[in-house]
Amino acid sequence: MDIARTVSNPDGTPEMADAARTPAEPTVIKREDYRPFGWLIPEIALDFQLGLEKTRVSAKLTVQRNAKADRTDMLRLNGDGLTPLEVVVDGEVVNSWSMDGEDLMVPLVSDSHLVEIVTEIDPSSNTQLMGLYASNGMLCTQCEAEGFRRITFFPDRPDVLSTYRVRMTGPKDQFPVLLSNGNPGASGENDDGTHWAEWHDPWPKPSYLFALVAGDLVANTDTFTTMSGREVTLNIYVREGDLERTGHAMESLKKSMQWDEEVFGREYDLDIFNIVAVSDFNMGAMENKGLNVFNTKYVLADPDTATDGDFDGVEGVIAHEYFHNWSGNRVTCRDWFQLSLKEGFTVLRDQLFSQDMGSEPVKRIEDVRVLRGIQFPEDSGPLAHPIRPDSYREISNFYTATVYNKGAEVIRMMRTMAGEEAFRKGCDLYFERHDGEAATCEDFVKAIEDGAGLDLTQFRRWYSQAGTPQVSVRMEHDGDAVTLHLKQEVPSTPGQPDKQPMPIPLKLALFDKANGSHRGEELVVLDKEEASVTFTDFADKPVLSLNRGFTAPVSIRQEVSGEDLVFLAAHDDDPFARYEAMQELVVTHLKQACAGELDDDARDAGRKAIGDALAAVLADDTLDDLMRGELLILPTQTYLMEQMEAADPGVIHAERQGLRGWLGKQLEADFIALHGRASDMPYSLDAEARGARKVKTQALIYLAEANPALASKMGAGQYDAADNMTDRQGALMVLAGLQTPERTHKLLDYYNRYKDNALVVDKWFAIQAQSLHPHAIEHVKALADHPQFTLKNPNRVRSLYMAFAANPHAFHAADGEGYRMIADLILELDPINPQTAARFVSPFGRWRRIESGRSALMREQLERIAAAGNLSRDTHEQVIRSLG
Ligand code: ARG
Ligand code: ZN
Repeated sequence: MDIARTVSNPDGTPEMADAARTPAEPTVIKREDYRPFGWLIPEIALDFQLGLEKTRVSAKLTVQRNAKADRTDMLRLNGDGLTPLEVVVDGEVVNSWSMDGEDLMVPLVSDSHLVEIVTEIDPSSNTQLMGLYASNGMLCTQCEAEGFRRITFFPDRPDVLSTYRVRMTGPKDQFPVLLSNGNPGASGENDDGTHWAEWHDPWPKPSYLFALVAGDLVANTDTFTTMSGREVTLNIYVREGDLERTGHAMESLKKSMQWDEEVFGREYDLDIFNIVAVSDFNMGAMENKGLNVFNTKYVLADPDTATDGDFDGVEGVIAHEYFHNWSGNRVTCRDWFQLSLKEGFTVLRDQLFSQDMGSEPVKRIEDVRVLRGIQFPEDSGPLAHPIRPDSYREISNFYTATVYNKGAEVIRMMRTMAGEEAFRKGCDLYFERHDGEAATCEDFVKAIEDGAGLDLTQFRRWYSQAGTPQVSVRMEHDGDAVTLHLKQEVPSTPGQPDKQPMPIPLKLALFDKANGSHRGEELVVLDKEEASVTFTDFADKPVLSLNRGFTAPVSIRQEVSGEDLVFLAAHDDDPFARYEAMQELVVTHLKQACAGELDDDARDAGRKAIGDALAAVLADDTLDDLMRGELLILPTQTYLMEQMEAADPGVIHAERQGLRGWLGKQLEADFIALHGRASDMPYSLDAEARGARKVKTQALIYLAEANPALASKMGAGQYDAADNMTDRQGALMVLAGLQTPERTHKLLDYYNRYKDNALVVDKWFAIQAQSLHPHAIEHVKALADHPQFTLKNPNRVRSLYMAFAANPHAFHAADGEGYRMIADLILELDPINPQTAARFVSPFGRWRRIESGRSALMREQLERIAAAGNLSRDTHEQVIRSLG
């Protein structure tokens, strides 16, 4: 937020003036309304006089009529909270300009002009963290999607591409490091204690990829030699004390550069690649050309402070942002409706990279768990939208699991149908055709179609239709023929009552029960509402393994016996399918239990089948521990809720924990033995040691439910013996759910040990907010008053409240206290950081698919937020859609 828009109320907290708040009905932007911009801006030169409280920005734009657009004599430059201090056209100060809302309108009569504009902003009061803002004494930017207009007036849309020259001047002691996009140019010192630096980015880019960083930073520097032999300097900039935690990020960067050359043939294109870590950041990271800005969470890692999961997060996000250099920067998006063009594709690319770096099946399982845990609920709730949305009010609300993760699945399906080689040809064609352009999803599909030789006519529906398709399958065995009757249904979603069938590629295998094997995989593409496929030569009825490797992002309904699931859980040679069978076994049982369909005997029988399968998983020495750990993880409560129409979170929680306790008791000796074996493994980052750490904490989780006293002792032991964060956090997580003295003791020890490390303090907040402890709500309330808690830092807000909102047993407390707490948070956070506040609305979307008591309580809170008035455009849109 900047001066023009900020007024201070008596207690000094910033408040937005009316202009920044939404009018009753903010404009709806529609995809079909796209028109090219009337002007081209081939070059922009920016001059920054930097200061934390006052930064002066002079922008020089070369402006040319766009022959491909409708003729206009008016140049509309977007602004957000800016006042033009000076407007100069072709060297003359003019006052012919006017304001249209937040935008600056400059009349221009000729075909080309030079337009100069001066603005002034206050980075220190920018709590939205969009545009230029201050973080820990440094200055940095976030411009995607529409932050550049908070820095200077400009056509802030992704289809206006310019080359950037940046010059910045600032006090040398305060900002010894001055960075921007592209390659470094001249630099020097002035007599007044300031210094300056110039940067030039030769690659035309849209304004959302602009970045500037000024601060007191140190760098981990390395080099990478590209496939054509150019040496690129690599820097990872952090604050002084953090340097020793940048090694993993640097290794990840070099691996990413190498992999993109080998697998996609993409080479880096500047002399230097800079990454800067900042602690105040709304998202994970940002792919600004040549100057990626990262949340510290995705840069800093060492064994003492980061878990194995954190190491993977760093590797994945470094890769993601680096890969954007081609899928996003060299080829960018025409408009924001095309966001999945760069995000879906780049997520797929980072997933494939991580599959190659570690365990392919385990990575696939993790990605599917995220999809089902976050995207499926989104797709079945009031915020459902196609991966290429048709309209929005605030684009920040569409950086979703649907655009990112389902977007990746959609491209993965094309890859599955085409095969790897043909898919690569399609990608090559896409980059070749559209390099230097702002493209559309349609351009991408067309390039894959032409390059890979596929007909994707019907497949395009995956871009336009929302909702997770339901596929049901029935098997018929007649003589020696097996027929699969497949049926698809795409559920109706907001604004899309009727759906057309989509092509659904399903990899399958038919197992011979007698010899435990199959005759080869088949890829069946279900492209009609109903279809049947027949296989012959099956004297005995085989066992079906369907959607192997999760080839399609659908949910499968099938009548399958517990016996067959046990068979697949033990014998399927596709690790994903094996995991799936194990999950299905548990889901089926818990669904029946929650629906009250099981008497005591039936419940025991169900539990016993699961217990036998789990015992087999524990005993199977062909499994590595990373995979074993996956097979031990029970389906999440969120996923279970998703499987039921009017879910009762209290009942689900009780049944799920009941099952876990039963299994823990039944297999107590095995879990103790597993914990012991895993504890003997010394720390390293290799797969074997990581697997050991994974099953170690899994064992503890089961034991905690079966034998809390024992688990508390073992957990405290694991905590004390830990020489790494994975073990320490795993133990603390289990202890946090118990009501034992060890809980208090270790939580205190952890805080004292790490209180100076913000990322670990975040974990400390999150562990308590996520815990199974019966008083988790009270703990969260108390933590909100902790001296280290602040609403100004998004990581801290998420560590307490996102963790809480994702803790079903606490968030869905029957009296509605959890809902009230999150609604209060939204209202308090909205004026400070609307983008982050709006993210807390989506958990309330569940109100439509939950038992009636909670449904009413959730709705009540949504209505309370809606009635508050003066909401940001971000939060307003999400609340309106959620109530829908
Ligand atoms: N493009 C960034 C990424 O790598 C995310 C930026 C999102 N920014 C925002 N304001 N929503 O995925
Ligand atoms: Zn991205």
